[in-house]
Amino acid sequence: MRLTVFGTGYLGAVHAACMADIGHEVLGVDVDKEKIACLADRRPPFYEPGFQETLVRALESGRLRFTTSPAAAGQFGDVHFICVGTPQRTGSFGADLRHVDAVVDALAPHLRPGGLIVGKSTVPVGTASRITRRIRALAPTADADVAWNPEFLREGFAVQDTLRPHRLVVGVQSGRADLTMRRLYAPILRSGVPFISTDPATAELVKMAANSFLAAKISFINAMAEVCDATGADVMTLADALGCDPRIGRRFLNPGLGFGGGCLPKDIRALSARAEELGVDQAVSFLHQVDAINTRQRQRTVDLARQLVGGSFAGRRIAVLGAAFKPNSDDVRDSPALDVAARIQRGGAQVCVHDPVAIDNAKTAHPSLEFAADVSRACRSADLVLHLTEWQHYAQIDPARLASIVRTPTILDARNALDLELWRSAGWTTRALGRPEDAPRVAAEPQPLRSRAPAADELSSAGGSSD
Ligand code: UDX
Repeated sequence: MRLTVFGTGYLGAVHAACMADIGHEVLGVDVDKEKIACLADRRPPFYEPGFQETLVRALESGRLRFTTSPAAAGQFGDVHFICVGTPQRTGSFGADLRHVDAVVDALAPHLRPGGLIVGKSTVPVGTASRITRRIRALAPTADADVAWNPEFLREGFAVQDTLRPHRLVVGVQSGRADLTMRRLYAPILRSGVPFISTDPATAELVKMAANSFLAAKISFINAMAEVCDATGADVMTLADALGCDPRIGRRFLNPGLGFGGGCLPKDIRALSARAEELGVDQAVSFLHQVDAINTRQRQRTVDLARQLVGGSFAGRRIAVLGAAFKPNSDDVRDSPALDVAARIQRGGAQVCVHDPVAIDNAKTAHPSLEFAADVSRACRSADLVLHLTEWQHYAQIDPARLASIVRTPTILDARNALDLELWRSAGWTTRALGRPEDAPRVAAEPQPLRSRAPAADELSSAGGSSD
């Protein structure tokens, strides 16, 4: 089939390359000439393990090309995917749909008869029906159809999640669109992936509901971590015990600094905002608590850090390990790690941040912070080390060697991912969120190995990477 993919960010670029990989002719479209040039030149404009290999394979097959021309895209494709960003609107909780609308406006005049427009961007429920009206007004003779096909890919696992998803959800308005989507995804469906065909409103909501559920699960365990801190109980053991119940499950119960990134925070807010418009805000009022618990973990980390350096940040040197919003990503959008680093700097400390891949993006987002290219430089003469993004890189640090570099060997593991017993036996004072001071063991869910983990630096001792 001949597909176009509008928007070549994380979602669009990966979708375009993967669709070409499964045999379709694909044209990627973006307004950003530089991004298009990078992709056409086989250079991913972002860090995503496994993506470059897929991109190169797709380009070499001749089935993937890129353009900045919506007219060329309209002429080329039978199915047009919308994969542009839907960020939080400035000054409100609602989603900003201007990029989605811009794609529709640019594409509509060039649509060939019978074209199918498929939204993949995360949008407020009701967007597909609004877009259908817009297209029919802009291109009344095109007989165009609109469907919604939300994506559930995680950064760091984008290729795997696209080619081997847990489910495919499509919201269609006609039997013709349903058939087109089944044909399009046939190579993926062959492995038994559940295909859920529904109406566009339900499809739009599945995505918002999934991310809200995941966010609620994280905030639930973080709320429990606060209760543990007040009682001396251990939230990691609590999470393990809860997770043994298959109705609950251990995944997304990792307590710590909380969620960030370009999806979970904005999606719970967008659902709240849409529910308010629909007059059902009370039904999802718990999402405000989910958000508040999440943000509170950042201040809790700052407060604990202040306490660990004697009650004031003034004149203190703090090393921050991690800048990305999660490991295996260079994305720093709404990064809890950078937020904490900035708050501590505002409190009067000298803060030096390390990250294996996200330093460039972090510098752009927080130019006033100090950055170091390796762990030892970030930690030199530090009064406190903060572990804020759980890269496998940091689990490989040799605590005995790091102890000789810092001024005071104290570490706060705000991601509950380090083997603190090991650190204590190397002479470190250790603290973690939701755990007693002598927390007995490391306990993070087993993580898959990544193919393109960054090289360990001179303080490290092994290899691998984590979710
Ligand atoms: C998320 C959804 O998982 C994905 O399905 C959707 O398509 C996009 O949004 P992503 O933002 O890439 O994906 O990251 P995810 O792995 O979900 O992590 C989100 C945040 O939650 C990260 O900041 C992570 O550190 C945090 N998190 C995750 C926790 O704090 N605890 C956990 O147990 C799991």
